Parts: sequence; C-alpha cells; structure tokens
Amino acid sequence: MTVVRVAAPGRVNLIGDHTDYTNGFVLPMILERRTVVEGEIIPGDMIRIESADDPDICVFPATVASPGRLNPAWGRYVAAMVREAGEVPAFRARVTTDLPIASGLSSSAALEIATGRFIREITGREWDDVAMAEAARRAEHVASGVPCGIMDQLCIAVGRHDHATFIDCRDLSFRHVPIPETLEVVVRFVARRTLVGSEYADRVADCRAIEALIGPLREADPAALESIVDERLRRRARHVITENLRVLASLEALSEGDLDGFGRLMVDSHRSLARDFETSNPRMDAAVEELMDEPGVLGARMTGGGFGGCVVAIRRRL
Ligand code: GLA
Repeated sequence: MTVVRVAAPGRVNLIGDHTDYTNGFVLPMILERRTVVEGEIIPGDMIRIESADDPDICVFPATVASPGRLNPAWGRYVAAMVREAGEVPAFRARVTTDLPIASGLSSSAALEIATGRFIREITGREWDDVAMAEAARRAEHVASGVPCGIMDQLCIAVGRHDHATFIDCRDLSFRHVPIPETLEVVVRFVARRTLVGSEYADRVADCRAIEALIGPLREADPAALESIVDERLRRRARHVITENLRVLASLEALSEGDLDGFGRLMVDSHRSLARDFETSNPRMDAAVEELMDEPGVLGARMTGGGFGGCVVAIRRRL
C-alpha cells in the first residue's frame, strides 16, 4: 500500500480576536511550524494512530460513533475528522509536530486539517478547503467541547506562507494579504494553557446574550452600546465592535504601508482584550510591554483565545 504524508501548519492571529464566533473579521497567518500525518490504508476496519509525543496508541473503528470519548485525548481530533469525512477505510498513521501544544498556536486545528488532508489523499475524494475547515470546526467542538469559531481551521486550510489571511467569518470569504518584506512577525511563548474548561465558553455565551439584546454584533453600531445596561456585557460588546473596526483599519494600514499605524492598532486591540474582554492576564500584559520596549517593535498583543498561550508582535526589520 502507498504511504501518504501530509502536513498542516499552526497559526498566529495578527489582529481580530474573539470576533470570529459572531461572524466578524480576523487577520491570522500560518506559521512555519506544522503537524505531519504519515500513514497508509490497512486491511480490516480499525484505525490506529500513533503520536511521536505519546507512547499510547489511539485505536478506534473507522465507523467511530463517539470520538469525544476516546483516549488518549489527542486521538479525538483525528477520530472526529474521520466521522466528519463519512466513509473512511481502515488506516494506520503517525502524527509528529513541532508546534507547541496548548500554547494558543492552534495545534489542535493543525491536527484536524492534517487529518482531513490525509483522508482526502487516501480516498482520492474531493474535499474543498473551506468545507474541510467547517468540518474541522465541528470536529473541534466534538473533540474538545470548546465552542470555537472558524478562524483557526480556515486560516490553516487556506493560508499561504508570508501572507496573512483576511477572513470574513460571515460568508467565509478570504483574501491573502502579503506581509511587507520590511516587517517581521515575532511570536513569544508566555504560558501553556488549554481552552477546555476555560472562560472561553463564557465569552461566547456573553456574546450570545448581547446579540439577543442588540442584534448581530457584526452589524452593530457603536452607538448601540449605550442601550446595554449590564456593565460587563457592554464592555464585551465594545471589544467586539471596535475589534472588527480595527481589523478593517489594519487592512487599510497594511495596504498603504502604514506599519506604525498597524502597530498602534495591535496595541489598542490588546488593551481592549485585556480591559473589556478580560482574556489577557498579568503575564501576557508584561510580555506585551517587554516586546514594545524592544528595538524596532511597532505593536504587540495577546493572540488567540487568551488566558495564557502566546503574544505576537510586529517588528521593523533592522
Ligand atoms: C481560539 C478559537 C478561535 C477564536 C480565537 C479567539 O483560537 O479557536 O475560533 O475564537 O480563540 O479569537
């Protein structure tokens, strides 16, 4: 049988956090670091997955019914993608990655998309990138229980190196935005964390509550904020509404070569996430401050879901 080898990268988000699950705008980019899935079709009806980072093997039927209950837990992402794909032959595969796990760089979405690409290869079936990303988002919900948006899976499925991916999360249209050669993107690790059991789901629930009051956040006018009586919900809404505007302003700044302007928008985004959305923490705030003091740095912010993970900065190449 032919051995198939596929890969999918991690991602870092330049700007636009906690906007995807209310159909807003995001500007993430794929990383060099990636997850590789290598394997082949085997006889029988069982799927066997090994990981270079774990001596335990994950074994489940090709007709897996409850991927969310498997162990080891990383196998759930693979199994959930198998279930999304429908009819999949038995196979064995080995997963290797140089992405740090539980660090906010979307190692789980990379595993989902790598699995999707592997299944596409071994079955020779059509599986459009956007449809695969939508399947991967559902798989993430099943595997981790985290009610995430589409940003990570779609960026990883369609991203291009040295480009950011501007995504409109309402219709899933996207555009590759070149990163100017004079700009360097710096990712700095702060702390391991998982979004499983975190306040991520509370933020999603807050946004649902806001939308029940003022309608879709994506279309909301900043003036609508005044009608939100609850102080916490008002701050949450202010973050989402202004963050969407910042993503659009960043696109404009990038296209005009206004890198200082882009940097300032990143700093504003961090402040909004820290004060209004409360997804930062003192260590991440300190990491952002430190980066801002480094030569050539134009902007820095927390990136991704928050509560730990990584911070990102843009630096002028010296
Ligand atoms: C996580 C989720 C994404 C997105 C970000 C915050 O990475 O998986 O869908 O919501 O957090 O922007």
